[in-house]
Amino acid sequence: RIAGPSGLVIFGVTGDLSRKKLMPAIYDLANRGLLPPGFALVGFARRDWADQDFMQVVHEAVKEHARTPFRQGVWDQLAEGIRFVQGTFDDDVAFDTLATTLADLDRDRGTGGNHAFYLSVPPSAFTTVVNQLKRAGLATPPTEHPGQWRRVVIEKPFGHDLASAKQLNKTVNEVFPEESVFRIDHYLGKETVQNILALRFANQLYEPIWNANYVDHVQITMAEDIGLGGRAGYYDGIGAARDVIQNHLLQLLALTAMEEPVSFRPSDLRAEKVKVLSATRPLAPFAETTARGQYTGGWQGGQKVPGLLEEGGFAQDSTTETYAAITCEVNTRRWAGVPFYLRTGKRLGRRVTEVAVVFKRAPHLPFDDTATEELGQNALVVRVQPDEGVTIRFGSKVPGNTMEVRDVTMDFGYGHAFTESSPEAYERLLLDVLLGEPSLFPKNDEVELSWEILDPVLRHWGADGAPEKYKAGTWGPTSANDMLARTGRHWRRP
Ligand code: BG6
Repeated sequence: RIAGPSGLVIFGVTGDLSRKKLMPAIYDLANRGLLPPGFALVGFARRDWADQDFMQVVHEAVKEHARTPFRQGVWDQLAEGIRFVQGTFDDDVAFDTLATTLADLDRDRGTGGNHAFYLSVPPSAFTTVVNQLKRAGLATPPTEHPGQWRRVVIEKPFGHDLASAKQLNKTVNEVFPEESVFRIDHYLGKETVQNILALRFANQLYEPIWNANYVDHVQITMAEDIGLGGRAGYYDGIGAARDVIQNHLLQLLALTAMEEPVSFRPSDLRAEKVKVLSATRPLAPFAETTARGQYTGGWQGGQKVPGLLEEGGFAQDSTTETYAAITCEVNTRRWAGVPFYLRTGKRLGRRVTEVAVVFKRAPHLPFDDTATEELGQNALVVRVQPDEGVTIRFGSKVPGNTMEVRDVTMDFGYGHAFTESSPEAYERLLLDVLLGEPSLFPKNDEVELSWEILDPVLRHWGADGAPEKYKAGTWGPTSANDMLARTGRHWRRP
């Protein structure tokens, strides 16, 4: 579907996200013919720029980061709808100027009074911006044009804990009705993440064994090799659990564990996610079922890399964790007794995100003991990135004169199976905002439920002092290994 007449206003347009993700995604959408010809992109920031300066910045970002080839004609058409409004968030005049700019675009460019406001700003600025939009009359369409729309897009962190998330939702919902609020969790924009639902609900093969009778445990991993150089301002005091588990990993858990939705309508889909998140709890005692760590200097990919506290910007006694692992239980008939292990970390062995469903052993093995020494547990692994696909691990006879069984894998890779390329997550999500399609955006109650799951663990960690150190380039703190070893399991080495 192609977006109708509309415009996008980005607050915090001088930030990294805007340059690396949003601007290129807009261009790629235009290049694929998915934006209306009169689309407008408006930047709002403190910088003393004219429209031309902003246009130049967008141009450079597109040249550097866009996925699709540069085409002068597409760019020229897009560039005609680029505007910049200079101001601070508490500046009434700037917001009035924004209102005039949008009215001009509606008249001259054909944006039709439909505008999305993207808040790529620190959470401390959310309230001010949202209230300014209301004051300037931008938050709702004029009464004489009730068919027009206004939407707000917010980036995480959606709060710091349950209480602040509730407060934030309240503030936003006082100005924008929930159906106009689009919270970005860019993991939901990834093809491989959406494919979890296709894999489960379009096939007969997996669903019969997708339950506690057959599944031993689930491991959800998001490992990164990068450190936090340059991101201290955002990350110090936030840490891995708030940055990644509260949103991306709990959403992956929800998609893996939820029941079949009645349909793929947004309300049906979100209802199932809400149900499963309501049934999810962190497993205690947290001293045994969770782990947290902070990286120190080490070697990665043949390069010497500094520890977190040497990265600059972090307090020397910072207890911010860069690795977090928790155990969840999902208290439903389907999942009773099946642990869901969630882990994420910076400066780990390699960059990989995957969901691994690990099955119980066959109840009986009619082989000699030595024949199955190299047989592990069956597993189905959704490889979210970077090597997108699905792997199934199972035992197979080793060729030869004896009956010996060893683990092998069966692979589906996107690169081999499809000629179509995956759109970038932000491309899909921005298009959905303009189309008013909310399926891939977590609702207020999903966000609050996720905090409810994480809050007790955060409180425990808060009282527990400093995180354990781990060397950059390894797979995290030893307490993470102990956490699984206690139950006779081990983390996969993706
Ligand atoms: C963001 C986190 O949400 O996701 C970052 O704030 C992290 O800390 C990033 O690096 C990873 O995204 P991706 O798409 O590269 O896995």
